[in-house]
Amino acid sequence: MREADLGFKHQFVPAQSPSLPTLLLLHGTGGDENDLLPLGQALAPGAALLSPRGKVLENGMPRFFRRLAMGVFDEQDLRFRTRELHEFVRAASDRYGFDLGNVVAVGYSNGANIAGSMLLLYPEALRAALLLSPMLPLKPEQMPNLKSVAVFVAAGRADPIVAPENTRQLVLLLEQAGADVTEHWHQGGHELTHPVVEEAHQWLSSLLRT
Ligand code: MLT
Repeated sequence: MREADLGFKHQFVPAQSPSLPTLLLLHGTGGDENDLLPLGQALAPGAALLSPRGKVLENGMPRFFRRLAMGVFDEQDLRFRTRELHEFVRAASDRYGFDLGNVVAVGYSNGANIAGSMLLLYPEALRAALLLSPMLPLKPEQMPNLKSVAVFVAAGRADPIVAPENTRQLVLLLEQAGADVTEHWHQGGHELTHPVVEEAHQWLSSLLRT
């Protein structure tokens, strides 16, 4: 780990205008810091992009936290890694000069799960989050206050990795915490498809206009 990495290998693309948000791009298992840059550009053209590579390796594939089996998380590691990611975002804001109050997480699969964990454990860290094929990452001891946070959740009714019921538990918890949640359910599985990206783009565009 080099100091220059701020603790994570990452990509940073500055915003084209200071009013645009910073998208925190969080890839799925086996991805890296380059994977979601085109997605970020499609979702919010001109926004700053902060894209770290997950530091946990599973059979050589980068992830953001350890799991014990498919869908069974090492919660201690998840909490530790969530704090680490939170600290990385703060350090990156110091380094690159973006507004910590205007950070929007975009996570896919494993990246959606650490983004969900960040919402639940550090509710002040994100203005909004787009969770693409997420599941309930953990249950916090205390109910967070997410009253000023908007969340877009996209999930497939035929997802073989995440049972729809599990995603619904996450949505319920976010709503109980006061988040403004928009759900987008499709007939597909765990993959990220063009119609999902289009829905996510529409949602984010209207959020950024408000
Ligand atoms: C996870 O481990 O975060 C989920 O099972 C999603 C995945 O990475 O496949």
